[in-house]
Amino acid sequence: MKGIILAGGTGSRLFPATIAVSKQLLPVYDKPMIYYPLSVLMLAGIREILFITTPHDKASFVKLLGDGTDLGCSFSYEVQESPNGLAEAFIIGEKFIGQDSVALILGDNILYGSGLGTLLRNKISENKPTIFALEVQDPERYGVVEFNKDGKAISIEEKPSNPKSKFAVPGIYFYPNDVISIAKKVKPSSRGEIEITSINNHYLNSKELQVVQFPRGTTWLDTGTPDSLADANEFVKVIERRTSRKVACIEEIAFLRGYINKFQIEILQKKYGNSDYADYLKNL
Ligand code: DAU
Repeated sequence: MKGIILAGGTGSRLFPATIAVSKQLLPVYDKPMIYYPLSVLMLAGIREILFITTPHDKASFVKLLGDGTDLGCSFSYEVQESPNGLAEAFIIGEKFIGQDSVALILGDNILYGSGLGTLLRNKISENKPTIFALEVQDPERYGVVEFNKDGKAISIEEKPSNPKSKFAVPGIYFYPNDVISIAKKVKPSSRGEIEITSINNHYLNSKELQVVQFPRGTTWLDTGTPDSLADANEFVKVIERRTSRKVACIEEIAFLRGYINKFQIEILQKKYGNSDYADYLKNL
């Protein structure tokens, strides 16, 4: 399975913080936001990853992450000219995806929880169109999935004013290769975007879609507003200071998953100067 991290958009809800800097490069506590979704794909066992950015931010992402070989991965980059919707990722990424299946993760989503990597790897091995669901207080801000008595998904709506449930769809999606042709047929919504919810409804109607409820211990944060970004900073800070383990340390994940060895970690730590992050890598 290939992976796409969608890291475009204007970040306008965070202006002026994101006028000159990509939202997904803003720090979340001690590392750039993009490290969090990247770490989730790496935990899921996905090593061939395409970053989709705005045209003017691409160079900064390349400077930060390079071609991925030092993490035992392969990174490539494409641009999205304007934020036409999440489903455009599969059209922009068509060549990169080739004949493979694909995971999409949003560059501003943070997922954290024990057993997350194993759960994602198991779902990938089932090779079905798969999305996830989590109970939230404010479902109207998200894609919302309704389940019947047997726990089967029966509807998915994008930002409904009267949500049929509290289950929101987080920004991580697994699809087979036909998602490319499905995305090409999606018509723009009333807000002018080609919606990921239209893709999910396509698979729901064809009875192929699997909707997996994340276990209670899974935390999902999005970082689209000043308050949610501040919450994410605080969350990562509390976990890291209490446990002395870092959340979303991509070098640690590469090492633990066997993508790189300890000698490569020693080289990587030099990239981080005299920071606390460099010390953490030294102690690994
Ligand atoms: O966060 C999960 C939610 O993401 C889902 O529950 C919704 O179903 C899904 O539509 C999406 O909701 P939003 O409309 O709130 O997503 P937003 O416009 O905030 O975009 C999410 C990220 O993707 C953001 O970091 C910007 C980036 N993006 C967005 C669009 C529309 C792009 O890179 N390109 C785009 O065209």
